Amino acid sequence: MRISAVYPGTFDPVTYGHVDLIKRGAAIFDHLYVAVLKNTDKLPLFTVEERVEMLEEVVRAFRNVSVTTFCGLLVDYAEKVGASVIVRGIRAVSDYEYELQMAMMNRRLSARVETVFMMPAEAYSYLSSRLVKEISLLGGSVKGLVPPGVEKRLKKKHLGA
Ligand code: PNS
Repeated sequence: MRISAVYPGTFDPVTYGHVDLIKRGAAIFDHLYVAVLKNTDKLPLFTVEERVEMLEEVVRAFRNVSVTTFCGLLVDYAEKVGASVIVRGIRAVSDYEYELQMAMMNRRLSARVETVFMMPAEAYSYLSSRLVKEISLLGGSVKGLVPPGVEKRLKKKHLGA
């Protein structure tokens, strides 16, 4: 049986932590949909199109990964594309509470979709898009935390460079 999974998120912007999870997800599932949420109540730095472009640069290396967008309920999207798994990354215990709540709610919304938690490499356990944006905004280096293309775009956004 072929198993497809959705890896949803804001990806504002994609970090090496996300890339690590994409790599792990791609090794387990037959197909992985990296799905960018369109209707977020967060105020993103990058547009949906920019976020998709950055992700596409990253997933080029994987033949069984595609980048998509979704709006509305995640479980509806998962069912629409025939995915039976939602992949979420857990870095530390502090992530767990929110993730558990979402997983349980998603299970209530659809019993056909199972959430699978994955841990990124230890080196990325303290990495987040929020911190990356903050460091970049304040002129710090994000080298080694995000792919080079993302690094360039962050500089452009913050310094106009
Ligand atoms: O990267 P993020 O911001 O932690 O991702 C959050 C995301 C996109 C996974 C979550 O906000 C989501 O699934 N939104 C879609 C709306 C939805 O299905 N809400 C009910 C979830 S219990």
